[in-house]
Amino acid sequence: MKAAFIERPGPPEVICYGDLPDPKPDGSKVLVRVEAVSVNPIDTYIRAGSVPMELPKPYIVGCDLAGVVEEVGPDVTPPLDAEGRQIVRLAKGDRVWCSNQGMFGRQGTFAQYAAVDACWLYPIPAAVASTDAAALALVGITAHLGLFTHGKLRPGEKVFVNGGSGGVGSCVVQMARAVGASVATTAGNDQKAELCRKLGAELVIDYRREQIDKLLGDFGPIDLWFETLREPDLELAVRHLAPRGRLILMAGRDARPVFPLGPFYTRDCSAYGFAMFNATPDKQRAAALQINDWTARGLLKALIGKVLPLSETAEAHRLQEEKTLLGRSHLVGKIVLVAP
Ligand SMILES: NC(=O)c1ccc[n+]([C@@H]2O[C@H](COP(=O)([O-])OP(=O)(O)OC[C@H]3O[C@@H](n4cnc5c(N)ncnc54)[C@H](OP(=O)(O)O)[C@@H]3O)[C@@H](O)[C@H]2O)c1
Repeated sequence: MKAAFIERPGPPEVICYGDLPDPKPDGSKVLVRVEAVSVNPIDTYIRAGSVPMELPKPYIVGCDLAGVVEEVGPDVTPPLDAEGRQIVRLAKGDRVWCSNQGMFGRQGTFAQYAAVDACWLYPIPAAVASTDAAALALVGITAHLGLFTHGKLRPGEKVFVNGGSGGVGSCVVQMARAVGASVATTAGNDQKAELCRKLGAELVIDYRREQIDKLLGDFGPIDLWFETLREPDLELAVRHLAPRGRLILMAGRDARPVFPLGPFYTRDCSAYGFAMFNATPDKQRAAALQINDWTARGLLKALIGKVLPLSETAEAHRLQEEKTLLGRSHLVGKIVLVAP
């Protein structure tokens, strides 16, 4: 099969595109014929070696995929709910998506085929394209875990998220709206601001031109602050948190920001840090099935900024780095690649 893989960490140029043996769906694995994959910042950190991970050799890059079940391994037992009903059907020909591959020794997804443990696979709703399912995978689960598992968001609350047109941010905006919260966000230009409004944000602040502090003050105290920046301003965040507000922290491995303790604890605020890849398969599946429900009902839409063939994975990593690390990209939405 064709695959995008690395033999050693390094810059995007270390990504090879070539032939590797087809994976086998042994044990509890399912062989998926990949149709689409999407790039996430973590793909670039793992490829660069800045996030040390146990990697198979060669290592196929990527976490997310959408495709079609080709073969089901001999020990696959589809997951059941508390009443013993099958929650996910896995049979040859079924359309499925997954995330959280390419981590902790698991092989990645940027290939024509992937053998994925059944516990990470979810159905794709009939009306949802594979490119959209792939684009929403890791970012959707991340937004869901942050808002609901950690942030315990309730209808009617106020949410702030930085980067409302970003991968995670765009999911946070739409999911918070889907449960009846009101959302304030930031965007880097007029086009992105307009998009955030279309996604349901009530207040959109151009972070390059406008006074965030003033405009957030007018919006009112924030119950849940979802911080996506790698160098967050926690003085700003805590200043705008409501009493008993929750601060969600999920980016910036090297960040050591100043933390304003006094105004934080005296108003009973809480901070939650998390990395989506630590969530159990059951927790990720619960998020995934809710994502499916919202996408099927048109309440959650994928933002896709660029579609490339799988052979252009190195270029896709360059574009993702420009966006996330250098902040100088005009790309709006996810980078999706289609398998041959
Ligand atoms: N903990 C986890 O499990 C987890 C999971 C997924 C991602 N992450 C991390 O979360 C971060 C975001 O990921 P992503 O996939 O959403 O990245 P992304 O698609 O590149 O989005 C980044 C967003 O940040 C916005 N931004 C950049 N500088 C800003 C500033 N100074 N003020 C306000 N907004 C600014 C950008 O807005 P404009 O485009 O409008 O400039 C963009 O929307 C990354 O660091 C990633 O590693 C963590």
